[in-house]
Amino acid sequence: MRTKAILITGANGEVGHGLIRQLAEMGDMPPVIVLDIRGLDETIRPLVYETKIGDILDTNLLENLINEYEIVTIYHLAALLSTNSEFNPEVAHRVNVQGTVNLLHLATVQSRLRGAPVQFIFPSSIAIYGLPDLKTKTEAGAISEDQYNAPTTMYGCNKLYCEHLGRYYTFHYQQLAATPAPGVDFRAVRFPGLISALTTPTGGTSDYAPEMVHAAAQGLPYKSFVREDSQIPFMVMPDAISALLKLAHTPAENLSRRVYNVTAFSPTAADIHRQTIAAFPGAEITYEPHHKRQAIVDSWPVDIDDRAARADWDWKPEYDFERGFGEYLIPRIRERYRR
Ligand code: SER
Repeated sequence: MRTKAILITGANGEVGHGLIRQLAEMGDMPPVIVLDIRGLDETIRPLVYETKIGDILDTNLLENLINEYEIVTIYHLAALLSTNSEFNPEVAHRVNVQGTVNLLHLATVQSRLRGAPVQFIFPSSIAIYGLPDLKTKTEAGAISEDQYNAPTTMYGCNKLYCEHLGRYYTFHYQQLAATPAPGVDFRAVRFPGLISALTTPTGGTSDYAPEMVHAAAQGLPYKSFVREDSQIPFMVMPDAISALLKLAHTPAENLSRRVYNVTAFSPTAADIHRQTIAAFPGAEITYEPHHKRQAIVDSWPVDIDDRAARADWDWKPEYDFERGFGEYLIPRIRERYRR
């Protein structure tokens, strides 16, 4: 008998760390196996059953995984973020799209073996939106899932396409085959920018927010690569983790769609600056916009409408802007850099 397991790819990233900690706290779950090209930081390695160091493009490695384990749920977090992806769009496509196809295929094979759909939880992003100009962005306000799906970044294109692939693998995979097989059970959340107290992201375009706070907490000067009036939605990491878990635990019949917006608050860079200075009065924060990264942020919505998630799976963020900073970010960041 193979051991039942939850697989997390890209586990050594920000979301992975948060998810591993939360799953470990919840207990009473199948063991967690992780796959990351960088391995897993020593500090959280004891919280997982097995760490595989490897690439999601390595199909032999993926095949071996299902020889060893009965995978019941996949959190497919591995991806190259939006800024990094622009430096090498074809590599981004391979990792973000081919990597996802490899995992969806693994999920399909595994679903057949166990005779029940493997759950496939996928973080998508506000990067799948593309607003044509600032005026439209401001006037549009909070946009719903099906509006402005015209991303300007490779990462946004990749995520949007993978959402479609997830829907295909769930409802239409090999639709002309004589014997229909159980598909996968794909579910995605479109995250806003994420801010964690424990880790900083690598290679994203919403990174100015976490970078500003983390720099201030360490007494380092920070030059923001976007203007003060830049505005996109954000969420603190505990809410991001709870969104993934909440969606995973919702009965399929409650889902009216497979891709959901989730958000918490929509501050400008100046709002984040103000909160940061209030906590770290000496912080030296200046603005030196990088006009190309700025253009990416300007193409993302000021806010997203998450009513579908609220209605279908009772989604509600625990932290608004004030609480997110006051009760989570600032105290946890202080503690982190005091050590
Ligand atoms: N945080 C991501 C990025 O900036 C967007 O999902 O790339």
